[in-house]
Amino acid sequence: MTRKQIIAGNWKMHKTHSEARSLALEVVADAGGGSAKEMVLCPPFTALQTVAEAVSGSAVALGAQNVHWEDEGAYTGEVSVPMLAALGCRYVIVGHSERRQYFGETDATLAKKLKAVAKRGMIPILCIGETKEQREKDETEAVVKTQLDGALGNWQAGDPGALVIAYEPIWAIGTGLTATPEQAQEVHGKIRAHLEGAFGEGFSSGIRVLYGGSVKPDNAADLLGCPDIDGALVGGASLKAESFLGIFRA
Ligand code: PGA
Repeated sequence: MTRKQIIAGNWKMHKTHSEARSLALEVVADAGGGSAKEMVLCPPFTALQTVAEAVSGSAVALGAQNVHWEDEGAYTGEVSVPMLAALGCRYVIVGHSERRQYFGETDATLAKKLKAVAKRGMIPILCIGETKEQREKDETEAVVKTQLDGALGNWQAGDPGALVIAYEPIWAIGTGLTATPEQAQEVHGKIRAHLEGAFGEGFSSGIRVLYGGSVKPDNAADLLGCPDIDGALVGGASLKAESFLGIFRA
């Protein structure tokens, strides 16, 4: 099955709304219409509206970096799925390692978020990945399987396009240390095999599994050329149009 690759920019806590507008316009101007890849921009909440306007009419999709699982209520500081849907978000990053590490997100709350996002027809990008210590202790496979099982316990297999997984080894995020294509492909293959066991071959062969962790224009082509790598979730290199477009074109 051919899977359309996704190149998603996770801007994290960077860019005011006006800085975000400039970057989004620069990216959209050069993204080209007929690419074989799909581009997604995930600005902070405060810039979603301006980036939505900047990408409107283009093939570039909008994504958010987090969401709450309830539609509304007394949850000070939180943002809901209907709020994101109203702005035209197509994707939501769920369970980024920084959310797990600094904000105590657990597989159980991620499962609720995934369900809420899918219910509205939006596509969650579920992030998983091991720490340096876990890799050194040879626990990578067990860690990613536990994360998948924990967050996807209630997931209804169906359209494989309704879910995206991002494998992001924590030791590679923002460190300049990238997994080699061989290391990444090995884990991606195991993720796909595990999803086949859980949801069947049709689902596992159709789902996109992105790689994230210090993806740059000069390492993107080798990573994206691996058979089980279906795109990239890009942090640092997504903050400049030139480097992000370099990855998009790789
Ligand atoms: P990085 O971040 O590209 O800066 O390593 C990736 C991510 O955290 O999604």
